[in-house]
This record gives sequence, C-alpha cells and structure tokens, in this order.
Amino acid sequence: MIRIISGTNRDQSNTRKISNEIQNIYLQLNTPCEIVDLKELPGEIFTPLAYSEKPKSFEKFSTAIKTADGLVIVIPEYNGSFPGVFKYFIDMLDFPESLQERPCCFVGVAAGMWGALRSIEQLMDIFVYRNAFIFSKSVFINNVNSVLDSSGHIINNEVLERLKNQATDFIDFVNRFRKK
Ligand SMILES: Cc1cc2nc3c(=O)[nH]c(=O)nc-3n(C[C@H](O)[C@H](O)[C@H](O)COP(=O)(O)O)c2cc1C
Repeated sequence: MIRIISGTNRDQSNTRKISNEIQNIYLQLNTPCEIVDLKELPGEIFTPLAYSEKPKSFEKFSTAIKTADGLVIVIPEYNGSFPGVFKYFIDMLDFPESLQERPCCFVGVAAGMWGALRSIEQLMDIFVYRNAFIFSKSVFINNVNSVLDSSGHIINNEVLERLKNQATDFIDFVNRFRKK
C-alpha cells in the first residue's frame, strides 16, 4: 500500500486537493493508495506529554506510516520551508522503523513561483538522516492556484503529466524494494 501524506493541517488546503488528484493517478495505475491527512491529527498529540506517551488516537497514523510500502509526501511551502506541523508529525513517529529504508517521494505545492523547492530540499535532509530510500524525481507545483479549478481538479496538463510520470516511476522504485 502506498500512502500519500498531505503535509499540512490547514483547512481547505491546496495540498489536500493535489493529494486527492495524486491518489486518483495511483488508483488509475492499479496501485492501492491511501491519504494520511495531517488535518485529521488528534488535538491531544499537541501536548508536552505526547513525546513520552503517544495518545491512542495517534496509533492509526503511526501504523499507516510504518506499514506503507512507499510514501508520497505532498508538502506545501510555508515561509520558505515546510509546515511546522509536518516536522512535529515526524517527531511523533516511532523511530527508526517509520522512515528507515522506506521508499519516499516528494511533491511540492506553493502559491508562489518556487514550487516548494526549498521545502523539499530541507525535508530531504531529514529523510536522509533517517535513512529513508529517497526517490529523487520530485515534482514542484508553483502558482498552484492557477493549476486547480474551483472543484479542486488539476487543469494544467503539463503538471498532470509530471505527476503521472512520477507515479509510474515511483511504483517501479517501490516494487524493486518489495522484491528484496
Ligand atoms: C503560513 C503560510 C506561509 C506561507 N508561505 C509561503 C511561502 O513562503 N512561499 C509561497 O510560495 N507560498 C507560501 N504560502 C502559500 C502556500 O504556498 C499556499 O497556501 C499553497 O496553496 C499551499 O499551501 P496550502 O496547502 O496550505 O494551500 C504560505 C501559506 C501559509 C498558510
């Protein structure tokens, strides 16, 4: 199972809309795929005690990551970086097994012109540190508001093509590790 992490908890986020579109691409490629939406994180993980004792309500998120054959991280650009909630999410995961040797690929989403390039580069440092297997073909979506229509569908064919190419190649990448 491939899991897509929608990397912000902002209400009505474009990241979630892009995640939905990516999920459709994987399903069209006959690859089971689910979304892990950080907007659904339980409020009780945001307490100082959560570092030592994870709330039961976090277990399904933790398990979703640990049992994924591959992770597609869809990450928005916030202040030239990735959202703080995403780092906190990583800090809440069990380690090393959550990211260790797990195939991961990245899609950046930004209102501005840089398409979350920095967000992904910064994230990659963390994923390398955690020994994830990084798929290096990222997709950067800039000017995202012009890429989506009012119902949240991608209307830019070039972006759609890049996402389809990434998905096709990432499935191949994930399968190589599955065969080990
Ligand atoms: C706190 C915050 C900081 C942001 N900083 C940037 C930024 O540095 N560069 C940029 O291109 N867009 C920035 N944006 C706009 C987001 O890229 C934009 O909202 C886009 O749709 C992706 O985020 P979303 O998933 O929350 O919608 C910021 C948005 C928020 C909420």
